[in-house]
Amino acid sequence: MDKFIISGPCKIKGQVIVSGSKNASLPILASSILFDKPVEIKNLPDVKDIDTMLNLLRSLGLNIKKNKKKKSVIITKSKKINTIASYSLVKTMRAGILVLGPMLAKYKKAITSLPGGCLIGARPVNYHLKSLKKLGMKYYIKKGYIYANVKNNLTGAEIKFPKISVGATENLIIASCLAVGRTILKNCAIEPEIKDLTNFLTKAGAKIKWTGKRRVQIDGVKSLNEISYNVMGDRIECGTFCVAATLTAGDLNIKGFNPKLIRTELNMLRKIGARIITKKNQIFIKGTKNLKNLKNVITKEYPAFPTDLQAQFMVLLCKANGRSSIKENIFENRFMHVAELRRLGAKITIKKNIAIIEGKTKFEGAELMSSDLRASVALVLAAIVAKGKSKINRIYHLDRGYEQLENKLKKIGVKIKRTSK
Ligand code: UD1
Repeated sequence: MDKFIISGPCKIKGQVIVSGSKNASLPILASSILFDKPVEIKNLPDVKDIDTMLNLLRSLGLNIKKNKKKKSVIITKSKKINTIASYSLVKTMRAGILVLGPMLAKYKKAITSLPGGCLIGARPVNYHLKSLKKLGMKYYIKKGYIYANVKNNLTGAEIKFPKISVGATENLIIASCLAVGRTILKNCAIEPEIKDLTNFLTKAGAKIKWTGKRRVQIDGVKSLNEISYNVMGDRIECGTFCVAATLTAGDLNIKGFNPKLIRTELNMLRKIGARIITKKNQIFIKGTKNLKNLKNVITKEYPAFPTDLQAQFMVLLCKANGRSSIKENIFENRFMHVAELRRLGAKITIKKNIAIIEGKTKFEGAELMSSDLRASVALVLAAIVAKGKSKINRIYHLDRGYEQLENKLKKIGVKIKRTSK
């Protein structure tokens, strides 16, 4: 199993280019099931979760022509379609559930493995199922699989999600594109990745209209057109690099991401002490040694502060000049990184879903264990500012969602090495 060896402390300086967004690519790839015509998707990140989704699509009978150099794929329909999404593929990546909606819309049936929980929480799919039921899906669950079908076609309906869910919003938007009649979805998630999905589908001929902040209206069409689409940049990767620059009193130019989409995070970083200049698709960020604490940080749905940056900001606040607190509002068990950060010297206490972070931590290198994708990158950040050598085990978690992380970090001044020993 690969590990990272990081020798700190390092200062980050230079330029980095943000890769394509994993979380935008996954639903866009899943929606290729809706098409009879070829779909070209560009700017895909070269990460494990994308490979898993491509393997899942292959297993369903789609042809995938990959162009690694161009970071693009062309997806075409084969004659032999399979409607079973197997456990072996869905268990490693919860976004596998996103094939359920499009399979029902296109093939009227699907057998999809239940994704199961993961370290950050139980992560049920009840909102996906309840709302697809409103479009006409019938289903039962047996031996860990959802057996779903629809009699004729999915039929448009008015649905209000009981709670905001990124995945359920995506599944329903995708399915509704080929449903008969109008679907109105209320209380939708509005993460930029969802807007990227609706931009993609609209460009392919879907009739989608955002008619309120969290309300979208979809008029079903019979088929979608051939399309070539460039996926947006990765919001969380961009935010992670912003934290890295601030944390190391560094000086970084981040390219390939629209700064307007991370306004909340940039304003928080400014309060902590970063100096930031934004241009179209560029961020210039400088850190400082005197970082200020932040009280009452809360993770919430977009446009508020994202849970996917909680662990990274926690590392930053460990170095602030006072006590900070972060409340995790989205996932029930997303403080897995805390025990590992303590091994580097952090003083963090957890009370239910609130972490109290003491400032002025002097991190010292240690051997660490990754637990999930974002927790792992937080450990990398802490190791970058820690004195001495750190070894981070199980970085396969990181490989799920960060493209070429060690190469990008090396180029901006981090002493980092991948090893399998
Ligand atoms: C997506 C992101 C993930 C991010 C999360 C929250 C992808 C591939 N993943 O995950 O990186 O951390 O949004 O921004 O885009 N819930 C239910 N029932 C459901 C669905 C969700 O109870 O049917 C709960 C979840 O357990 C969680 C909350 O709702 O507590 C939000 O989850 P959701 O927005 O659906 O997250 P994902 O789409 O899984």
